[in-house]
Amino acid sequence: MCGIAGYIGTKSAAPIILDGLSRLEYRGYDSAGIAVFDGEKIHMKKAMGRLRVLDELTRHGADMPGFCGIGHTRWATHGCPSDTNAHPHMNEENTIAVVHNGIIENYARLKKRLEQKGCHFVSETDTEVLAHMLTEYYNGDPVAAIEKVMHRVEGSYALGIMFLDHPHHIYAARKDSPLIVGTNDSGKFIASDVPAILHHTRNVYYMENEEIVCLSNEHIRFFNIDGEAIAKEAVTIDWDIHAAEKGGYEHFMLKEIHEQPKAIRDTIFPRIKKDDIDLSELGLEEAEIRRLKKISIIACGSAFHAGVTGKYVLEGLARIPVEVDLASEYRYRDPIYERDSLVIIVSQSGETADSLAALREAKAHNGKVLSIVNVVGSSIARESDAVFYTWAGPEIAVATTKAYSCQLAAFYMLAMKFAQIRRTVTAERFDALLNALRLLPEQIEGLLSQKEKIQFFANHYLATEHIFFMGRGIDYALSLEGSLKLKEISYIHSEAYAAGELKHGTISLVEDGTLVVAVATQDALYSKTMSNIVEVKTRGAFVMGLTTLRHQDMENCADYVLYVPETENYFMGSLSIIPLQLFAYYVSLGRGLDVDKPRNLAKSVTVE
Ligand code: M6R
Repeated sequence: MCGIAGYIGTKSAAPIILDGLSRLEYRGYDSAGIAVFDGEKIHMKKAMGRLRVLDELTRHGADMPGFCGIGHTRWATHGCPSDTNAHPHMNEENTIAVVHNGIIENYARLKKRLEQKGCHFVSETDTEVLAHMLTEYYNGDPVAAIEKVMHRVEGSYALGIMFLDHPHHIYAARKDSPLIVGTNDSGKFIASDVPAILHHTRNVYYMENEEIVCLSNEHIRFFNIDGEAIAKEAVTIDWDIHAAEKGGYEHFMLKEIHEQPKAIRDTIFPRIKKDDIDLSELGLEEAEIRRLKKISIIACGSAFHAGVTGKYVLEGLARIPVEVDLASEYRYRDPIYERDSLVIIVSQSGETADSLAALREAKAHNGKVLSIVNVVGSSIARESDAVFYTWAGPEIAVATTKAYSCQLAAFYMLAMKFAQIRRTVTAERFDALLNALRLLPEQIEGLLSQKEKIQFFANHYLATEHIFFMGRGIDYALSLEGSLKLKEISYIHSEAYAAGELKHGTISLVEDGTLVVAVATQDALYSKTMSNIVEVKTRGAFVMGLTTLRHQDMENCADYVLYVPETENYFMGSLSIIPLQLFAYYVSLGRGLDVDKPRNLAKSVTVE
């Protein structure tokens, strides 16, 4: 969701910035722009649509000479996608250029005041107020002006700023929207995310909230919101550069689906020591785990769906009551905080605005927060009391696959460890679960090798308009994710239902030929779901069943059956999600859609 790339150094800035923005395309955007300082003037070009439009407009940056510049990909919030609303935004005198990720919540009030003072606005964005405010407070000292603006705006921001009378300088600041600073022999960089600069450097500084930075050819200087100089340590990013490239696959999503066995191995095996699970990294005391009376899992989208599975597994194994909330609901529902409870925030990006706000809400009530996060150093990771990192590596496709799978694995490990400590499973049962956990990556590899079967089936459903997913228990949790995967990349309307709930209303939508995907992997619930399959079949549905080999009798009822291998019932979701991810992928591919960058969506939703 919005991207920032900036460069100052000895090379031409525009091609570096355009390349950086292209590596952030996966985050989702609808327009792009760039401003480059040629030493005398700040030149700006903006274009609605894909980055290639801007690239062509600037002849791959060749038309914008200069060694210092900032660029942006915009995902519209205030004002429709258009050339005018695209960033950068400049003041009326064209002496200050700003790019911004985030939302200025009090912009309407600020805009009114500025208009009363005679400012003329050209865009509908919240960002433009920043350019005018900087002008208002500027007296030759950029840091002092930025500081004043920061004290007056409410909301979230990562900013890149250039001032005409400070050639060869870039200024940047952040609050609640990620921003990093990179450095190499040729120059210095700002970026909203690591992939934008990974080709140039691994040497980065993570900006903290309410910090300002000034980059020039000679130095990088950091300041706090009061303008005081502060010292920061650079860190080395150890990402594999190829992890952020397609590596021969047609799409990032397909690559990431195939990376799941490795991602799960990387997440679970370092934590399995001497036939036990070692979660000492979390710093949770055993006594604390024994005392736990409630767990609240809070997340958005697929991470929420992982949390729904987490509830079944934690309650089933560790016998702790668990509630699962959508972060956007939790933060406003005045939840009840109790002693001896644990809040678990789940997030791939670690930057999702609603999840971060929920975390802060919990912390404000003295809640202990454990987060399950994929991006090291992200805001959610930094603000949590403990972090269970999922080692999925960079996830580029908007539709999450490998991060979701690792989140499931994280819940399995937490549930098993909590169960062991609380003595709600025997040692034998723990060993059986651990063996099953170790086997999951291999079993997923087996499922991936059968992808043609799913492609064949998917190709028959390219023109369908509605699809229902149904299941019970963990199969229901799984159906939620299967349905979301399909709708976000295929644009086919689909709904996931707890199978028993279907007849309380939705079954009226089932008619001749309606596709119903029925997930029935839970032994104890199998016959119940079979009854629901009969109900929809009777109303004309075409049923694709998903079950395990021991339930081959499903073929007597469903029209098409896919099998997944046996594992512990609690872990079934890790296997049954694979065909559903592939189904969504092949339907999207067959419909000729942009699999990795579905319309209107952003990889990381950093605004409310
Ligand atoms: O980065 P997060 O895990 O916090 O993101 C949460 C959701 O925005 C995310 O899972 C979204 O639903 C994905 N596009 C699903 O594929």
